[in-house]
Amino acid sequence: IKKIAVMTSGGDSPGMNAAIRSVVRTCAYYRTSCVGIYRGYEGLIDGDFIDLTARSVNNIINKGGTILKSARSKEFRTKEGRAKAYEHLKEHKIDAMVVIGGDGSFTGAVVFNEEYKFPIIGIPGTIDNDIFGTTHTLGYDTALNTAVEAIDKIRDTASSHNRLFFVEVMGRDAGFIALNAGVGAGAEEILIPEEDLGLDRMLESLKKSRRAGKSSSIVVVAEGDKSGRNVYDLAKYVEENLPEYEARVSVLGHMQRGGAPSCFDRVLASRLGVKAVELLLDGQTNLMVGLKNNEVISTEISEAIKGGHTINMELLRVSDIMTT
Ligand code: F6P
Repeated sequence: IKKIAVMTSGGDSPGMNAAIRSVVRTCAYYRTSCVGIYRGYEGLIDGDFIDLTARSVNNIINKGGTILKSARSKEFRTKEGRAKAYEHLKEHKIDAMVVIGGDGSFTGAVVFNEEYKFPIIGIPGTIDNDIFGTTHTLGYDTALNTAVEAIDKIRDTASSHNRLFFVEVMGRDAGFIALNAGVGAGAEEILIPEEDLGLDRMLESLKKSRRAGKSSSIVVVAEGDKSGRNVYDLAKYVEENLPEYEARVSVLGHMQRGGAPSCFDRVLASRLGVKAVELLLDGQTNLMVGLKNNEVISTEISEAIKGGHTINMELLRVSDIMTT
């Protein structure tokens, strides 16, 4: 393997730049050429490449976003799109690729490898943490801290006005951010996609909280929670059923995807980048690197995207006890 390409794909996450830096510098360390692909699979289809040397990635370990840009490519889902992508890889004499992204990006990698036997290693980068084969995805820790900081601020105004706040955090299909940020910020109730707690239970716990003498409350709601109502309707529902509450809604949105990566994410990115390149140089492919018991491990990408990274339900119990 003489030349390795690196791309960031799907929703960006803090730590992606640190991972690019790690891949590029590990290539330089092993005297292997490195090429950056802009805009994920979109840039691969367009042949939008840039040569990267160890100096190209100076001063990016601390930067949010991704210097290579990112995209969710529809064209790569087509055979024609993938054929164009393969032509560009051949034309530039690229022997292997590191894909930094989430499950959508890895699904693309699996299909591409089946068709062209092209060596690929994945690095899990998504704030959602919904990838099997790693306890932490890149950006999750930073996003959690961002969410907790925001909820802390909301608590200040909630408490000044004796209000109930519904705070929506990201996570279409996974409640990792909601559950952990909820416990970390001391939320009264946490609604996640993995479990339907039911609206009655929420009303009950809000009543309990009033009876216990609390004058303000925070409910953290994951984007994809199972209540069947959006966060604004949830707030309305509670106001209708518990008139003693004055409710407000705050949707944190994409701010959770930005910002300087935490130290944890920078270290994780550095470790995963090294491992990804070393696996490729060792002739391995179709693996995703990840973290387990603080060791860097690898998992078949096809396994990683099957799901099964379950959230820790014990945290719901902890949260419940904490609202006493
Ligand atoms: O997968 C990361 C994520 O931020 C999800 O939490 C969220 O549902 C989704 O991406 C939003 O995607 P987009 O930025 O394309 O609207």
